[in-house]
Amino acid sequence: MASGGGTVSSLHQPRLAWVRILWMVTSTATDLEGLYGPGHRLCTTPNPQLSLVLSLEREIDLFELEQLCDAVGWSRRPLRRVRKALQHSLLVVGLWRHDPRLPRLVGFARCTGDGVIEATVWDVAVHPLYQGAGLGKQLMGSVLDRLRAMQVERVSLFADPDVVAFSSAQGWELEPQSRRCAFWYSP
Ligand SMILES: CC(C)(COP(=O)(O)OP(=O)(O)OC[C@H]1O[C@@H](n2cnc3c(N)ncnc32)[C@H](O)[C@@H]1OP(=O)(O)O)[C@@H](O)C(=O)NCCC(=O)NCCS
Repeated sequence: MASGGGTVSSLHQPRLAWVRILWMVTSTATDLEGLYGPGHRLCTTPNPQLSLVLSLEREIDLFELEQLCDAVGWSRRPLRRVRKALQHSLLVVGLWRHDPRLPRLVGFARCTGDGVIEATVWDVAVHPLYQGAGLGKQLMGSVLDRLRAMQVERVSLFADPDVVAFSSAQGWELEPQSRRCAFWYSP
């Protein structure tokens, strides 16, 4: 997803810094709240001039989400099914590259569950141009904080083998020998 103004380079090596500083000065807390909702959270990044915001309230544009999923190499799903999945999710978190006119979706995660006892985290993704800067960790942190606030007792997630280390590094326990898990797939 091209997010304008460069991405990796702007994440790690400040460019057009004066423009971004101007944004930060002119973006009041009220502006941010209007764009991202009262529970939004500013992310820490290696480039302090780049504003990245986590929001559970800002509506996700399905086409933007599809572009993000394309960027991380996931196969496409019909948008009407994705819309329904989001509507039925317990929580949906967007990671936004702040732009007062047009915030860009650069990360995403969602959870399903009953909101009391069980929850499952799905579709955790950070755009490749923004990976490796601690954003995935902050995204997961925001998901878990919200689930903790709901007093959900147990959270599970399913990870591809090459990403298991991402979760275990954050304290997730691996299921011993994959023997307690069962799946049913629609024929
Ligand atoms: C997995 C993903 C969300 C990580 O996002 P990220 O922003 O790059 O992660 P972070 O920079 O916050 O990394 C946090 C820690 O996890 C480690 N990590 C990140 N990706 C990893 C991976 N694929 N395997 C193992 N460790 C990983 C980092 O080295 C870092 O370790 P540190 O805290 O010791 O420095 C991102 O790579 C992604 O979107 N991948 C494609 C989609 C995907 O596979 N999603 C996972 C579904 S569970």
